Amino acid sequence: MFEHLGEPAETREEQVIDALIDEHGQFAAENDGEVLDRYNIVAGQKTEHYETAAYGNVTSLAGKLGYDEAADLLEESLREEEQALDDLSEIGETFDREHVASS
Ligand SMILES: [Fe+2]
Repeated sequence: MFEHLGEPAETREEQVIDALIDEHGQFAAENDGEVLDRYNIVAGQKTEHYETAAYGNVTSLAGKLGYDEAADLLEESLREEEQALDDLSEIGETFDREHVASS
């Protein structure tokens, strides 16, 4: 995408993802088994929600600014993130049906 824009790609610290990783590490240190398995699904969903929001906004901005090729590439990434979120949601539902007793 940056090649299309003629701009250098820059990296920067991602504080939100770092915080999610820290949170996961703390939870994993205190839990295991099915509780941790279910939490791992939640942790993945949190990340995918964050990524979906980010890609959704930059895709929209790229389109509005006329960077059509960049918008197309970003849209592709957005769709991948949305699919990952859908997949994780389905995995969570399946996990709950198999492991969580209804009361
Ligand atoms: Fe993702």
